Amino acid sequence: MNLMVIGGGGREHAIVKKLRENPAVETIYVLPGNGGIAHDAVCTGISATDIDAICAFARSHDIGYAVVTPDDPLALGCVDALEDLGVPCFGPNAKAAVIESSKIFAKCLMQKYGIPTAGFRVFYEADKALDYLDHVNAPIVVKADGLALGKGVVVAQTRQEAKDAVVAMMEDKRFGASGERIVIEECLEGPEVSVLTFTDGTTVVPMVSSMDHKRAHDGDTGPNTGGMGTVAPNPYYTDAVARECMERIFLPTVRAMNAEKRTFRGCLYFGLMLTKNGPKVIEYNCRFGDPETQVVLPLLESDLLTIMRATTEGTLAETEVKFRDAHACCVVLASAGYPLAYEKGLPLDIPAETWPHVYVAGAAEKDGALVTNGGRVLGCTAVAPTLRGAIDEAYRLADSIHFDNAYCRRDIGARALAAQEA
Ligand code: AMP
Ligand code: GLY
Repeated sequence: MNLMVIGGGGREHAIVKKLRENPAVETIYVLPGNGGIAHDAVCTGISATDIDAICAFARSHDIGYAVVTPDDPLALGCVDALEDLGVPCFGPNAKAAVIESSKIFAKCLMQKYGIPTAGFRVFYEADKALDYLDHVNAPIVVKADGLALGKGVVVAQTRQEAKDAVVAMMEDKRFGASGERIVIEECLEGPEVSVLTFTDGTTVVPMVSSMDHKRAHDGDTGPNTGGMGTVAPNPYYTDAVARECMERIFLPTVRAMNAEKRTFRGCLYFGLMLTKNGPKVIEYNCRFGDPETQVVLPLLESDLLTIMRATTEGTLAETEVKFRDAHACCVVLASAGYPLAYEKGLPLDIPAETWPHVYVAGAAEKDGALVTNGGRVLGCTAVAPTLRGAIDEAYRLADSIHFDNAYCRRDIGARALAAQEA
């Protein structure tokens, strides 16, 4: 069977490597892919948001199954369009993807169905939002309603910072239409946990939990990034917490989406904060997380394609989803300066023995050689019996790779290690 994966980052590389383990898989086409993913699949250069071109490609390449990964094509109805052509897909349709593409929708869903989340207010006009901020205390969180490349959330430490965020979003239109409507919400405290789940709209199967490291620099300082590294499992996510999340958050969310006639199939990602009043939802994503996927899938023992097809066919309850009892750590190598200004086009040297552990996010092929082509260039993932072992090995792998001005955080997993030892 030929497969098509829509997207082109480290997460898609991890998905491609896992899908290839199934012997029935013939060619995997990636749209657009990147110079590094091209080691493991056929990359096409077709944009992940060009739905017409994606459909034309599916028609001409005998695609048996498609995996639609990034938020944009999901929100644009890529799954709807492919299914209309008769191509079965992994991922939610546009009606269900709104759980990520509209924070207002997500917050109102949680409020209506009693799913624990931060208290909030919705604003359509800047002056009303600014007036409201005069009556609440910082810290407080300001969120653009729509997709904003992960930059639409400001955790404001002062009232002025919150007001600046409102002006940037609603008046200066920093995020275009995404910031025309905003949510202002209570600031929660506690460890954060990412839980990716498979769901077919009835059954919810959580994957192994993980911990992201979103800030650019050590000690969780510096600007927010797309993620500088991850570990799995997350030591804060105990069996008792997992049971509570299933009963109070995961199943209620899937049922709520059914009640709203927006049945969700695919990977539903729960960004959780474990507060002293119990776990609460910080955000929903309608897709695999990046770089969470790069630690979660290497721990998956069962066949990914079989599980994905079960979410499409509604047979997840009868499908084996087994994770290895081990630890994984992913260290991201970025170009110095990321997420602000950074260089591209730097020659990239990856030793052959490191390749199996590498997930390439931003690289291109130039004159037959690999060069950097993004802020986050790649991630290295190690799996080991202990967290300490996984961290040490991930850094050994990362240090074996060379490009000029390569940068990584040196403390990926340190907080998890401290929590585990506490
Ligand atoms: P997001 O861009 O939605 O992934 O959010 C970015 C980060 O903002 C999250 O990972 C949290 O660390 C933080 N955040 C979002 N909402 C809240 C909240 N209500 N309270 C505290 N931190 C939050
Ligand atoms: N790592 C967070 C995300 O994928 O949104």
